[in-house]
Amino acid sequence: MAKAENSRIALPVGTNLDRFIMKNQEAFAYATGELSQLLRDLAYAGKVVNREINMAGLAGITGAYGAENVQGEEQQNLDVAANIRFSRALKKGGEVVAVISEEEEDIIHLNPHGKYIIAIDPLDGSSNIDVNVSIGTIFSIYRRKSEDGTQADMQDVLQPGNEQVAAGYILYGSSTMFVFTTGAGVNGFTYEPSLGEYILSHQDMTIPANGKIYSVNEGSYNSFQPEVKEYIEKCRERGHSARYIGSLVADFHRNLLKGGIYIYPATAKAPKGKLRLMYECNCLAFIAEQAGGMATDGKNSIMDIIPTELHQRVPFFVGSKEMVEEASQL
Ligand code: AHG
Ligand code: MN
Ligand code: MN
Repeated sequence: MAKAENSRIALPVGTNLDRFIMKNQEAFAYATGELSQLLRDLAYAGKVVNREINMAGLAGITGAYGAENVQGEEQQNLDVAANIRFSRALKKGGEVVAVISEEEEDIIHLNPHGKYIIAIDPLDGSSNIDVNVSIGTIFSIYRRKSEDGTQADMQDVLQPGNEQVAAGYILYGSSTMFVFTTGAGVNGFTYEPSLGEYILSHQDMTIPANGKIYSVNEGSYNSFQPEVKEYIEKCRERGHSARYIGSLVADFHRNLLKGGIYIYPATAKAPKGKLRLMYECNCLAFIAEQAGGMATDGKNSIMDIIPTELHQRVPFFVGSKEMVEEASQL
């Protein structure tokens, strides 16, 4: 979606998320209220997941996690728990015809009258849960293409990133943040747990055009393509800082605020790249572009890729415009 399609309404820092969404509703391209409700549903599920993440370590020791509820799913690990939380919130909300999730092999069909499609990585960076490092949730929202009243089909769920109507992530970090775009810039809300509210803390976020951080798993350096090695060499020569935590959301968020580039290229282990186009790359590409940054697969724009399968993987270069441009031209 082009930036011009939506106008921006500036609201002061301290505005809560519900109010922000309500006030901006008339500026959305689809001002029916359903997209607003959908964003609220996602934000709410994020609160539930946040609570479970915060309890996870302790619950593992005491066994309380899962014991609260007789349903089997609560006893499973947080990847699955997060998937359940988001699917449940979207099912109850009724705005969504289908969900595709990193955790599910096939399309999950919801309300045949729902207008929207969700692509979601319920828990990103899940290898970091047990070591108390930031993790996240990543989502993209598309408008259905098929007729109202029917089940979603492959054409609905395999839309290119440039068809996103909204996208966002929830970062469960030193504080929890909800960052999203509806094509009118990017705004970040910090969760205030005692109030149970997300509060606007980062207005109209922009990524510096250039930066001094490069984020890549250099352990795989030997199997990178020559162009990627060359770009990393340049970063080293320039004395840039290497920062890689292994949670895409956290690495992306840091670079969004400070300026930098995140790269997950093709490797020997993951010849097409590791990250998933539908659940991870399109969303962060949309946010990056809305913040003035850029995202490619090493050559072409991520959001122009026509997906061919749900769990498709792509090499991913995202962040500050000048850095991604340079890395993509080698
Ligand atoms: P997920 O936990 O959703 O499977 O994603 C993990 C991803 C991403 O968050 C991270 O940047 C990347 O995997 C790390 O991979 P490496 O350990 O290969 O660097
Ligand atoms: Mn992920
Ligand atoms: Mn995941």
